[in-house]
Amino acid sequence: MTELVRLADVTKVYQGGITGALNGVSVTVEKGEFTAIMGPSGSGKSTMLNLVAGLDRPTSGSVSVSGTDLGKLGEAGLARFRRDQIGFVFQFFYLLPNLTALENVLIPAQLKGNASTERGRELLATLGIEEVADRYPARLSGGQQQRVAVARALINNPTLLLADEPTGALDTHSGEQVMELLGGLHREGQTILLVTHDAKLATRHAARVISVMDGKIVDDAHLESPERAPSEVIRVHGEEASR
Ligand SMILES: Nc1ncnc2c1ncn2[C@@H]1O[C@H](COP(=O)(O)OP(=O)(O)O)[C@@H](O)[C@H]1O
Ligand SMILES: [Mg+2]
Repeated sequence: MTELVRLADVTKVYQGGITGALNGVSVTVEKGEFTAIMGPSGSGKSTMLNLVAGLDRPTSGSVSVSGTDLGKLGEAGLARFRRDQIGFVFQFFYLLPNLTALENVLIPAQLKGNASTERGRELLATLGIEEVADRYPARLSGGQQQRVAVARALINNPTLLLADEPTGALDTHSGEQVMELLGGLHREGQTILLVTHDAKLATRHAARVISVMDGKIVDDAHLESPERAPSEVIRVHGEEASR
């Protein structure tokens, strides 16, 4: 197993915060793992994900991804790290309303200077939503919008896919579809860190559940066999799907 993420004694105190949002968190995540982070509202889940994404910096302690200590990167280095290594899916999708689904998917690739319309369409097809490619977000259901957001997160083949309550704004059925999509990506070798407060979704799809309370990890469970969704073939990394 290859270590992909390492948090070492990470503390985060926000400006004006009286107690820490994270208090001495140490944890590692292996390549290929599908890990769910659970915990009540305000327990520090989003803070943890944002630090791993390089969207924010810890007050003390260190965060490393793929052997790179993010604390050693300047702002430009962090931006490059996010672009090249991280795919991020948010609760409220954040698609740009004036761009079509396909154009939204291609944004990160454009930032990298290698946007391929063909690859974007292929990815949408892989995720089962090729028919929405030329539609604007306002004409898509929540579940479709979130799957477009997942495609956008995957377009640069990120080392790590982060998802913060990706089903939080969806109905049960659409939420289940998005989770099955993530499960399929995991089976293709994608490392995923998912924040959710839905225990049922977490235990059904993830192989590991980290529980957070008051900014501390209070449980770290490796599940014997998360219930597998019926296996649909999802090819995201083309030939090089690796585990
Ligand atoms: N930008 C911020 N500024 C100040 N306090 C924050 C900020 N973001 C989060 N917090 C606080 O940090 C704690 C953890 O928040 P968060 O990581 O968002 O928790 P969760 O995602 O588990 O709901 C909460 O008490 C929250 O109010
Ligand atoms: Mg949160």
